[in-house]
Amino acid sequence: MNNVIVVASGKGGTGKSTVCICLSVALVRQGKKVLLIDSDCGMRGLDIMLDIEQDILFDASDAVCGNCTVGEAVYKSKNNDNLYLMAAPFDAENELSPAVFRQLVDSVKNNFDYVIIDSPAGIGSGLVTAASPADSALIVTNAEPTSVRGGVKVRKRLESLGVSHMRLVINRFDKRVFKKLGFYADLDAVIDAAQTQLIAVVPFDINISVVMQRGAAGVESGASFSPFDRLAKRVEGQPCPLVLRGML
Ligand SMILES: Nc1ncnc2c1ncn2[C@@H]1O[C@H](COP(=O)(O)OP(=O)(O)O)[C@@H](O)[C@H]1O
Ligand SMILES: [Mg+2]
Repeated sequence: MNNVIVVASGKGGTGKSTVCICLSVALVRQGKKVLLIDSDCGMRGLDIMLDIEQDILFDASDAVCGNCTVGEAVYKSKNNDNLYLMAAPFDAENELSPAVFRQLVDSVKNNFDYVIIDSPAGIGSGLVTAASPADSALIVTNAEPTSVRGGVKVRKRLESLGVSHMRLVINRFDKRVFKKLGFYADLDAVIDAAQTQLIAVVPFDINISVVMQRGAAGVESGASFSPFDRLAKRVEGQPCPLVLRGML
């Protein structure tokens, strides 16, 4: 994939922010330097999930308004060397325009191997801004029809915005729930409905949620996070199995 990646979904709660953080931590483990940009204006959360909420004095809107330098709005993760965060504006009315956001990202991206952008849910102006600097996208969906339909809508919106390279992440996958719901025969049916090539399936795993809420990404690791290590490898273009066997 290209190096400025927007993470998007139609519905909220699919796991965009979780994927952003866990993918970034996995890329850092693979020796990369990563800038996470929270573009969920008015609803930011990556600062809490990285446990640096108290450190944030300046956000992306401060950088473009001249309240600080761009460098002063980039914060180092305390738990992960080579992982940095730029926070989204705290207030919704400070949403950046696509052109301004793109300029901001263009001004910093060469200092990093990857820029991962967390977008708000939906296909509104927040997505348009978040996607404006992106070369590629990860569309996060859960294996249920409302979420998949949202993913298709996001895909079409991103296409219309000129994002050419898109991959699907099926997150929070739970075999028992999937079978009980019975909407899809198998994961292939989900991928067909989502109309996007798969790059990862991440099981529902309460450990992932707990680590995120504790702000302990990268500190507490283990098998729960191996799907993200595989995702990072595939993002890097390295051959790595999807490991679908045993999921159903
Ligand atoms: N693979 C997973 N297994 C279990 N819980 C998850 C997983 N991915 C995300 N979650 C949880 O789902 C909720 C929504 O995730 P979040 O990343 O905030 O979604 P979004 O950014 O799309 O709104 C959070 O409580 C998060 O901890
Ligand atoms: Mg989020």
